[in-house]
Amino acid sequence: MQAGLESLGIAVPPTYVELAELAKARGVAPGKYVDGLGVTRMAVPLVEEDTVTLAARAARMAMEAAGCAPEDVGMLVVGTETAVDHSKPVSSYVQGLLGLPTRCRVFETKHACYGGTAALLLAMDWVRSGSAKGKKALIICSDIARYGVGTPGEPTQGAGAVALLVSDKPKLLAFENGKTGAYAKDVMDFWRPLYSKDAVVDGHYSVQCYLDALEGAYRAYQEASADAREDAGGEGQYSDRFAALVYHVPYGKMSRKAHRHVRTLDGDKEPDASFDRLVGPSLVLPSQVGNIYTGSMYLALASLLSSSREDLTGKQVGLFSYGSGSCAEFFSAVVQPEAQARVKALGLETLLEKRRALSIPEYEAIMAAREKLDDKPAEETPGEGFRYQGTRDHKRIYAR
Ligand code: HMG
Repeated sequence: MQAGLESLGIAVPPTYVELAELAKARGVAPGKYVDGLGVTRMAVPLVEEDTVTLAARAARMAMEAAGCAPEDVGMLVVGTETAVDHSKPVSSYVQGLLGLPTRCRVFETKHACYGGTAALLLAMDWVRSGSAKGKKALIICSDIARYGVGTPGEPTQGAGAVALLVSDKPKLLAFENGKTGAYAKDVMDFWRPLYSKDAVVDGHYSVQCYLDALEGAYRAYQEASADAREDAGGEGQYSDRFAALVYHVPYGKMSRKAHRHVRTLDGDKEPDASFDRLVGPSLVLPSQVGNIYTGSMYLALASLLSSSREDLTGKQVGLFSYGSGSCAEFFSAVVQPEAQARVKALGLETLLEKRRALSIPEYEAIMAAREKLDDKPAEETPGEGFRYQGTRDHKRIYAR
């Protein structure tokens, strides 16, 4: 049985910080953030937004795009590293906000940025095995990346959610059964202790851990793919079989380093030469949003389908998901007819253009206010859509 993405949805906060402005405020050359890291803007959520509201908004877009009724969903998983409770999963709040049925498996997964991929691959097996019995799985990657004001990680923050509707009717991508390579290693490159809102990171070491994991997962993928033998000992570049490569993108430059590494492993003497062609379109949206952790690679995938000028129909795309700590997976999928038209119709570029720039003092005030959000007394807030209003009797209250 085929399994894959029937639709997707994206949610980003309506506000962002211009990285050139942030650089000036921190006394850094703007070129370091914009060209050195490859990020132009980073999304910053307002105080009424959290992982739950972002997830619910993204899910609603994915369901509407596919004409999916709530009762069609048989599994709802949220991959996140920005949980809102030690026990109750983000997915339960989302189930309530979206009115999803009680006959549904609902839970949350965590492994840094890999948490959403773990859920996606699980859902794929659920559909393929026949256990889904025609139902769909809603997989949502939702996160708010936070390193703290004035730290080296600050320009690599971001916020957003990507919802993936998985079914036996893949209208966007069909994932290739069995073609996946995993790599995991216990490392301390990036983590967030239970007592902290901000992530702790050994930045340069994390880059090396990412590249080591990429190498391990890419080699495992080659071994797992039935067609890998054709290339064994050959001169050709293995990654040329992909029409595009989508890497986990904490910041655009990391994708460049990743691609250079893959091409070097392939024996390419000019490992940067294919970057614009194979990777460029996947970075259009991420460069405007920043790191959204679990959703980063899927935002890059949406960017590829929405921005590529090439007709990708029937072509193979390679995907690399990395979660610090660490676990990584390299897998692949085939682009379905009209997938690009369907994703373009979501108007993702327009969604990003409609956002408002925050001044640096506004951004810093929001960062400070977010520190105390989890026990803010609930109050009525004006506005529309899903909104976090605070807590009452230790319960999080949401408006819809
Ligand atoms: P840094 O040390 O401040 O920056 O932090 P740098 O000195 O390494 O400079 C960055 C780049 O800018 C360099 O380019 C410089 O040359 C260049 P590179 O050598 O790397 O090609 N540069 C300039 N370019 C143009 N004009 C200039 C200029 N000046 C310098 N004037 C670091 C960088 C990424 C370490 C930091 O931002 C950080 O710690 N970020 C967070 C960690 C991170 O994102 N790690 C990525 C791999 S781990 C991962 O992806 C998992 C993650 O998503 C978490 C999860 O799994 O949940 C993070």
